[in-house]
This record gives sequence, structure tokens and C-alpha cells, in this order.
Amino acid sequence: MEPILHRRVLLGVTGSIAAYKTAWLVRDLVKAGAEVQVVMTPAAHDFVTPLTLATLSKRPVLTDLFLRDGSGSWNDHVSLGRWADVLVVAPASAHTLAKMAQGLCDNLLLATWLSATCPVYVAPAMDLEMFADPATAHNLDLLRQRGVHTIGPESGELASGLEGAGRMTEPMDIVHRLATDLMEGSPLAGKRILVTAGPTREAIDPVRYIGNRSSGRMGFAIAEEAAARGARVELVTGPVELTTDRPGIVRTDVESAADMAQACKERAPEADIVIMSAAVADHRPAAPAGSKIKKDEGHLELVLERTEDILAWIGKRRRPGQVIAGFALETEEGLESARGKLERKGLDLVVLNSLQDEGAGFGHATNKVTLVTRDKDPERLPLLPKAEVARRILDAIERRLKG
Ligand code: CTP
Repeated sequence: MEPILHRRVLLGVTGSIAAYKTAWLVRDLVKAGAEVQVVMTPAAHDFVTPLTLATLSKRPVLTDLFLRDGSGSWNDHVSLGRWADVLVVAPASAHTLAKMAQGLCDNLLLATWLSATCPVYVAPAMDLEMFADPATAHNLDLLRQRGVHTIGPESGELASGLEGAGRMTEPMDIVHRLATDLMEGSPLAGKRILVTAGPTREAIDPVRYIGNRSSGRMGFAIAEEAAARGARVELVTGPVELTTDRPGIVRTDVESAADMAQACKERAPEADIVIMSAAVADHRPAAPAGSKIKKDEGHLELVLERTEDILAWIGKRRRPGQVIAGFALETEEGLESARGKLERKGLDLVVLNSLQDEGAGFGHATNKVTLVTRDKDPERLPLLPKAEVARRILDAIERRLKG
């Protein structure tokens, strides 16, 4: 199976001949869905060009802690360490391993590794005698004791022409190892999931619309959490002011309920899971004006018509095994109506949003929801940050997937 790695990978490249293989490593990481930031040690520049790795990773390669361009700027190793979900040093030369074991930090990669709090992997690569040397073995032992994970090295033909242990593990095997360690175990790994977010805008005329107060935060939080658990996420969003750089999310921007319906109809048949968190308009102007409506004396009447119920359309066509979740927004106690929605729209889960609680619902960073399923008692959650609500919703979906 193709590995999936929706992670921000900080790839440290050091001065070993195996650095030439990092071109493939970057390509394989990107193909697996990772976002890759390469940091090279100065010695690595003798073995592979930054241009190659920058092109493949689609990001400038970083080397220097301090920029020598007179600007007084520097590459912030603390932010880099915090950005990374995982730090991989491949190839890890004997010299870099020794410096890591000693806690030295005379270049950007080492300063970043000392400030990183994420899991760290090293893939040693060197000639067999260097690898067999007790100093190297001792350094690797020290690093392992401190929680650093090692990948390889493998035995085989070395650049020197000698045979033995010291070859860097093949790039695809490194990616598989990272994917296994970091992504597997989640029932969502590899699943296709369609998430909708935000409001819709229904045109009255070319400049005016009917909208709602949805910020899209809940849907984005679900999309990000699902991608972090290894899902391939299609995020269809109405107009929002949010961005996401989480690898594993393909974003499609739409405006009206009709646009959203079309985007969802194209994607839902393929999806293993559908989560409709968008606040889709139920009504739209029946005859939007082609040009801006001029003000007149007297009042203006707008005739509204129903929009298509996207969720009901998806529910009607559900495949066996497909899991479908909808949201409901209630100003009063809405358990009964949520249960009705489960039946009517053919859903597995309704996330019931309260509009009555302080800090819950549209525009807030927190939300208070009740998870309503067919066979279990409703799960009332306290007021929680939306990221945590997203986790609870996906936990419920994972339980459903497990049967
Ligand atoms: N939905 C949809 N298509 C629409 C309207 C809503 O897919 N045209 C989805 C929403 O994304 C949400 C759920 O349906 O997941 C909300 O259902 P809805 O019946 O609109 O409920 P409420 O808005 O909560 O309330 P009411 O039933 O009172 O209208």
C-alpha cells in the first residue's frame, strides 16, 4: 500500500555521500502527502545541491543560522522546531551523530534539533569502519536512550566499494517506517473523507447576498484533525477567512448552496465518510436580479425558494459501510429533532449544536455539542475548544467504523 504521511517533516541532510539519495527521499515524502522543509548542514552542500531539494520540496532550503547578507536576520530554529511534526536526519553522518550526542549546536540543523519537541529519527549513513567504531556505536546508544529513533543502516555495498553495515536505508523504506510509526493505528488512515465548512451566500443581485454567521472554524478543525489521523480530506468550504496548511487536505472553495451541492455530489460517491458541517442556506432568492437593484420608494419584497438538501441527497445514495454525519443547530432542546434528522436523512451521527450556551456555536473558538447516534445514548460534551470537539466527533466516527 502507498504510504500516507500527512505530517510536517523537517528533513535534516548532512555531509554523507548518501545525501544524493535525499532527492528521492524528498520526492517520496511529498508523494506520501508530507510537507517537507529541508535543512542542510554546510557539509551536505558538497554532496547535493540545495536547488534540487528546494525544487522537489517546493520550499527554500535552509542552512545558516545567521544570514550573512547584512540584514541582521536569522533563521529561527525555535519556530522551525515547533513547526515540525517530526524531524528526520537522513543521511545522518558520524560527525552529526557525535554532535547530537554531545548537544553541540554549531549549525542550524543542530540548533533546531536541540529545540525540537517532536519525535526525532536518524538514518545513519557512513562507511563500515566508521559505523563499527565504538565512538559511533556509543553515540547512537546515547541518542536511543534519549528517545531518538534510528532507521537502519543497512548492510550492502558502500560508496567506498567495501561491503558491510553503513548504507542509508532506501528512501521509500524510510517513508514507510515513518508512516507506520506516525499514522497507522488510526482507523481513519487512508480513508477518503468529505468535510464541508462555512456559510453559503445566496445572491440577491450581483452585489448583495443572504448569508449566515458561520465562520467555518468547526469544519476546518474537523478537516485538520481527520488529515492528522491519516485521512485523505476533501474540504468543500463556503466563503471563510480561514487558511489551512495541514498536509492531506484538498480544499475547494464554493459560494452558494447550489455550488456546494455540485461539489459534494462529485465527491460524496467516492467518500468513505461525509461530515456536513457547513451552514448551508435553506432558502435562496427565487429570481436573483441580473444587475444591482436600485432603491425605490416603498418596500422591496424578496421571494425565497428552498435550496436542495445536500445531506439528504447523500444519505439517500449511501453505500454500505459509508458513514455520514450532519450538524443541527437548535435554539431549543433539540434531541428529538436530531433523532428525526438521523432517520429522515439516513445519517449515522448528528452533531447537535446548542445556540443557547455562552461560547458555543457560530463565530466562537469553543463549542458545546451533543453527539446523537442511532444506537447509543446521546453524548453531551462540555464547552470545549473546537479542535477538541473535532477530536470527539472523529472518535465517534472511528467507533462507528469499527462497528
Ligand atoms: N444541510 C444540507 N443542505 C441544505 C441545508 C442543510 O446538506 N440545503 C445540512 C447541513 O450541513 C447540516 C444539516 O443539513 O449538516 C442541517 O440540517 P437542517 O435540516 O438544515 O437543520 P437545521 O438547520 O438544524 O434546522 P431546521 O431543521 O430547523 O431547518
